[in-house]
Amino acid sequence: MPRTREHTDFGFRRVPLEHKQALVDDVFHSVASRYDLMNDLMSGGLHRAWKDALVTAVNPPRARPAPAQEAKASARPFALLDLAGGTGDIAFRVLEAGGGTRATVVDINADMLAVGRARAAGRGLDDAITFVEGNAEALPLPDRSYDAVTIAFGIRNVPRIAAALGEAYRVLRIGGRFLCLEFSTVDVPGLDALYDFYSFNVIPALGRAVTEDAEAYRYLVESIRRFPRPDAFAEMMRAAGFARVSFQRMSGGIVALHSGWRL
Ligand SMILES: C[S@@+](CC[C@H](N)C(=O)[O-])C[C@H]1O[C@@H](n2cnc3c(N)ncnc32)[C@H](O)[C@@H]1O
Repeated sequence: MPRTREHTDFGFRRVPLEHKQALVDDVFHSVASRYDLMNDLMSGGLHRAWKDALVTAVNPPRARPAPAQEAKASARPFALLDLAGGTGDIAFRVLEAGGGTRATVVDINADMLAVGRARAAGRGLDDAITFVEGNAEALPLPDRSYDAVTIAFGIRNVPRIAAALGEAYRVLRIGGRFLCLEFSTVDVPGLDALYDFYSFNVIPALGRAVTEDAEAYRYLVESIRRFPRPDAFAEMMRAAGFARVSFQRMSGGIVALHSGWRL
């Protein structure tokens, strides 16, 4: 009997599940050097406020006065894992907000990580961050080793979302928190039409002008439309084992911040 091949969305196209990652990788290879600039241009700087909300929720411990020598030896730094961390934006923000935090950035794309490493060196943060080339679906990291796991604008690109959620859960310590920032569903009357117009007309044109790749940014807007609604994504997090799952929509639903705990 012929086996039915599993398919998934790549933007508005249906593609075999095992082909999606290579298509996603092409997108980010193509835009890596202009990725940060495009984020500012596309969102009018709003992505900074969305990321700040994520960092506030991570709530890394603030720098404390230097402890006594013995206490210092046993003190364990707050450990952050940022999945699909690309050029390092979330890790930089968490490190700058908290004292003594250590960050691990995992991304599947070497070009995005190369930009991240150069930015970390420029900010003097390279000692506090480890950049790891790896797949969020199969993390090369030990069980129960992080206080917080974040993923910003990344989960939508991962072919097997349930596998990535399972891995995030596996590497979290008991009592650790998972936070996912992702584009979501705009359902404010009036704003939805405006947002659609902006997404399908302005963003690909901007992408063409800045990165010479309109297709990459067409994929961005299409993939947003295919991503599960916030309540459905919350259900996927519960299925992965997360407790006390909640979400908050921001900017009329343009993005949603999901939270869940390993208890
Ligand atoms: C839109 S960027 C987000 C980058 C960063 N988190 C930020 O907020 O600026 C999406 C990132 O997901 C990464 N990515 C896609 N599939 C992945 C996978 N399976 N595992 C790890 N990273 C992946 C891409 O390489 C890309 O760097």
